[in-house]
Amino acid sequence: MERLRVVGGRRLVGRVRVPGAKNSALKLMAAALLAEGETRIGNLPRILDVEIMAELLRRMGCGVELDWSIEPGDHTGVARIDVPAEPGHEADYDLVRRMRASIAVLGPLLARCGRVKVARPGGDAIGSRGLDMHIDGLTRLGAEITNEHGFLLASAPTGLRGSTVELDFPSVGATENILMAAVLAEGSTVIDNAAREPEIVDLCQMLQAMGAKIGGAGSSTIEVQGVDRLSPVSYETLSDRIVAGTFAVAAVMTQGDVTVGHAVAEHLRIALDKLVAAGAGITVEENGFRVVMDRRPSAVDVVTLPYPGFATDLQPQFAALNSVADGVSMITENIFEARFVFLQELARLGAQVRTDGHHAVLRGVPRLSGAPVRSTDIRAGAGLLLAGLVAEGPTLVSEIHHIDRGYAGFVEQLTELGADVSREPDPDPF
Ligand code: UD1
Repeated sequence: MERLRVVGGRRLVGRVRVPGAKNSALKLMAAALLAEGETRIGNLPRILDVEIMAELLRRMGCGVELDWSIEPGDHTGVARIDVPAEPGHEADYDLVRRMRASIAVLGPLLARCGRVKVARPGGDAIGSRGLDMHIDGLTRLGAEITNEHGFLLASAPTGLRGSTVELDFPSVGATENILMAAVLAEGSTVIDNAAREPEIVDLCQMLQAMGAKIGGAGSSTIEVQGVDRLSPVSYETLSDRIVAGTFAVAAVMTQGDVTVGHAVAEHLRIALDKLVAAGAGITVEENGFRVVMDRRPSAVDVVTLPYPGFATDLQPQFAALNSVADGVSMITENIFEARFVFLQELARLGAQVRTDGHHAVLRGVPRLSGAPVRSTDIRAGAGLLLAGLVAEGPTLVSEIHHIDRGYAGFVEQLTELGADVSREPDPDPF
């Protein structure tokens, strides 16, 4: 077990290269199951979750090779996924419980094999995270799904048939699973109230390259005309907007000057507007954006919503920013009910915070005070690390496997920007 030691007080200056998005990469890898033969996916982030997805696919009989870049500052790689004519159709609990996104194989396997047995992920540190919309949507396409001994058993004895699916909420995971099932279903499917995240558009573009017929990607209504078969492709993963946003917040908190390269500013429009409101200067460049800050940030209110609203995955980082900002801010979390647990760790560093249901009020303090804290999930870990960058004395962040799940080469990248961050053995792991 390792922990991170961060000593605050350094200004971040320089340039970083943002790798491909975790939340795209894992779904693109699952989508490879839809076509027999070798699919190549580039710009994958070098993170634990990609390794877990590779292992899951290997257990289904796929040959998976991961090649990581050896270029300095480039924490990406390429996967070659060789999918057999008849992939295995089971995903065990030992992998699913390590990575909830394993559930993304449900749709593609159902479409390819006509039956699937996938362990059911439980709740996790940020909320209960139901699967009802995944199940209802696939049932609308003709699947029969039961829950037995901790597994979801799904079958489509007479094949999947296109249908209209209206989601109660624009769930990212449910939209993706239904989409990946619909591309090989007979006839046409309409997904209403679909999620509009850039990662959904990325998945649709890869599926289109494979031969799928999809309209409306990025809008609330996605239309799919099923085809008989799809072909393997070579595809590049979209840049990670959450990682890009995390660096942007780090630049603002440390009153730094950071160019975030290989990033799409448009995917962060609301978050970057908030940083401008906090006092930052942001310039959009050809392949990214530059963030410059020369004073203590002003507090900014944040309300999380499905895309194009403010991303819940940037909420902890903005909470860290608000904890040292000038003024009082309110954060409203509408997506994951347990995401405020992290604020109690932030309070250990001296943040002044009160929560009431899904609202949190932060009263910015001039300085945080380094202490041992525990990362409870990926973004909470990032938020604590950012807080450590401006705290007085060392902050020790334990359970950093969470951070490793989502941020490729994070410590190296922050070090290159001038931060005092290192890994060390954790003598007292939780
Ligand atoms: C994905 C992202 C995650 C991001 C989230 C919201 C991945 C691997 N993860 O998670 O980083 O924070 O989108 O942008 O891509 N819900 C149900 N029933 C369902 C499905 C969802 O109640 O069948 C609820 C969830 O509990 C949650 C909300 O809907 O409260 C949003 O979940 P969803 O959009 O599905 O997020 P994920 O796909 O799990």
